[in-house]
Amino acid sequence: MLERLDMAPPDPILGLTAAFKADPNPGKINLGVGVYQDDQGRTPVLDAVRQAEERILATETSKNYLPIDGQPEYGRAVQELLLGEDHPVVSSGRAVTLQTPGGTGGLRVAGDFIRQHCPGATLWLSEPTWANHPKVFESAGVPVKTYPYYDAGSRDLASEAMLAAVRQIPAGDVLLVHGCCHNPTGVDPSPETWEELAGTIRERGILPLVDFAYQGLGDGLRTDARGLEALCDRQEEILVASSFSKNFGLYNERVGALTLVAANADTAERALSHLKITVRTNYSNPPAHGGAIVTQVLTDTTLRRAWEDEVEAMRNRIQGMRTLFVETLQAKGVKRDFSFIQKQRGMFSFSGLTPDQVQRLRDEYSIYMVGSGRINVAGMTTGNMDRLCQAVAAVL
Ligand code: LMR
Repeated sequence: MLERLDMAPPDPILGLTAAFKADPNPGKINLGVGVYQDDQGRTPVLDAVRQAEERILATETSKNYLPIDGQPEYGRAVQELLLGEDHPVVSSGRAVTLQTPGGTGGLRVAGDFIRQHCPGATLWLSEPTWANHPKVFESAGVPVKTYPYYDAGSRDLASEAMLAAVRQIPAGDVLLVHGCCHNPTGVDPSPETWEELAGTIRERGILPLVDFAYQGLGDGLRTDARGLEALCDRQEEILVASSFSKNFGLYNERVGALTLVAANADTAERALSHLKITVRTNYSNPPAHGGAIVTQVLTDTTLRRAWEDEVEAMRNRIQGMRTLFVETLQAKGVKRDFSFIQKQRGMFSFSGLTPDQVQRLRDEYSIYMVGSGRINVAGMTTGNMDRLCQAVAAVL
C-alpha cells in the first residue's frame, strides 16, 4: 500500500536546519529557522526559565493529566501578558484561553474550529506570510486566499493595497494578521495603519485571527500588542494564537496558547466547550512542563522582572545586528541601499536576495537562509558578520 508513495519535499524552514547540521564547513552560518542565538551563536536557556524549572522540580508532586484547556492560572497569565492586567477584555471574562502545543498548535486548533463553526469561511493570509500558514489551514480543510502586504519596490508595507483588499473581503471570512514582527518581512503596520485596519475589519464583519509569536522582540512587550489592542477596542470577537517559543526560548517545550474573545463571558464559555472537543480529538490535553515554567515566571515578581530584562537584551542584540549588518555591507563596498533592514522589527528581514543568490550563498559559502531571501537576523553575531557580509557582497 505504501510502495506508491514518493518522497515528500523537505520543510522549507525546518528542512534547512537538517541541511545546515549536515554541512561539514566549520564557518557555516545559519540564518534559516527563526531561533534566537546569542553573540556566541548559542540558543541559551533563559536564566528566569532555569530558576523556574528548579522551583518546579523541587515542588512537583505528580505528572497527572492537565485539563483539556490547560491550567487556569496559565490562561490568566497569558491573557494578562497579551493585553495587560487591567484590560476590560480580561477583567470582564470575555476571553478564554487554551494552552496549546506551541503557537502552531494554537493555529491548528483555530483552523479546526473555523472549519467546524464558521461554515463557508475563507481564511485570508498576507502575501507573503510564514510558509507553514497555508498548510496548517489547508490541512484543517479551511480554504485559503491572500491579501497584498509587502511592496517589494519600497521594501515597506503596501498599506493602501492591503486596506483596499480587506475592504473587499466578505463578512464572516477570517483575516490572519501578524501581531508584530511580521514573518517573513519584518515590516509591521504603523499605529495609524493598525487603527485603520482594525476599523475596516470591524466595518466588514470579518473575524480577525492574530498570530502573535514574537511579543517583546519588536519594540517592547506592551508596544508590540498595539495592533491587538486596536482590534480589542472595536471587535466583539477575536482569535489569538500566541507562542512562548521565542520570547521565553522554549522552542522544544512546545508551549503556546489560543485565546478566544467573544461579546460576553457566556458566549466565550460556550465557544470554549467546542474548542475543548477539538483539542480532545487532536492531542487530548497539553503537555505540562512549558506551561508551568511560563506561569511561574509571569506570576512571580522577581522572575518576571528577570525575564523582561532578558527579553529586552534579546531585542537589543537583534537590533544591534541589524545596524552592524548594514554598516558592514557598506564597509565592504556594497552600493545597494540596505538601510531598510534597520527599520524592520523582530527576527526576520526580507533581504531582497534572489533565489539564485540564496542558493549560491548556501553552495559556495555554507550560509543558509530561506529561499524567499528571508534572513534570521538573530543568527548574526559579531563573530560571523564579516564573513557573512563578504559573501553577500560577492553574490551581489
Ligand atoms: C520560522 O518561521 O522560522 C519559525 O516560526 C520556526 C518555524 O516553525 O518555522
